Amino acid sequence: MADALTPETVEPLLRGRFGRPYSYQKRCDSTQLLVDRQAGEGAVAVCDEQTAGRGRLGRGWTAPPGTAILVSVLLEPPGERAVPELSLVGGLAVAETIEAATGLAAQIKWPNDVLVNRRKVAGVLAEAAEGTVVLGVGVNVSQRREQLPEDAKVQAGSLLTVDGVRRERAPLLADLLVRLERAYDLWREGGLDALYAGIGARDFLRGRRIFVDGEQGLGIAVDRRGRLEVELAGRRRLVESGEVDFER
Ligand code: BTN
Repeated sequence: MADALTPETVEPLLRGRFGRPYSYQKRCDSTQLLVDRQAGEGAVAVCDEQTAGRGRLGRGWTAPPGTAILVSVLLEPPGERAVPELSLVGGLAVAETIEAATGLAAQIKWPNDVLVNRRKVAGVLAEAAEGTVVLGVGVNVSQRREQLPEDAKVQAGSLLTVDGVRRERAPLLADLLVRLERAYDLWREGGLDALYAGIGARDFLRGRRIFVDGEQGLGIAVDRRGRLEVELAGRRRLVESGEVDFER
């Protein structure tokens, strides 16, 4: 199966603004660093392999060469929008892309993980600088079980391990970019309110036993400002950032 993310393979599949210009390297430190912040909104950087892939909270992000979608997109959000919400905007676009490809339900674990069957198959990272945001997305596509990280906070999966199907990455990437563009445009105009039905319907932590800073509680819901409402010791609290674990 031909499975390339070269410009010759991906550019003919692009259907919107996102993905132009399309910058590709077989190997890079991190696509987050490869994006040219002057290249205009929708510019994209893609690699087949990252030697210093970045995850949230200072963690790394690893994938064997050629097995994942590793993409960063340059965004220029209006000043009135809250940048952290972009993780959820990206998460929604990724979840929709995975659902369209697999027919399986994908869920968003606040604030940036995308899960299928309780396995994390994708993560989103929003990094702001110089008035722009680089939104990085990693989707595990064709790793075999033994190629996935074992020490991840949330057990990792790939599309291959969840349904056994080998997929080409280029059509998935093109679909992701068009869905991201649509979600982003809605968010630009209307904030998370405009995407709330899609996010709320996929809210993994809703109604789950969760842990915040070691304290056990209940996940209530992601709210319309991108915060996670939880109940701890019988009291409602809004978590703005950080990490929430769940009972396995
Ligand atoms: C997370 O779940 O912690 C976020 C992971 C984000 C990984 C992607 S892969 C493409 C882009 N380049 C990086 O170095 N990180 C993001």
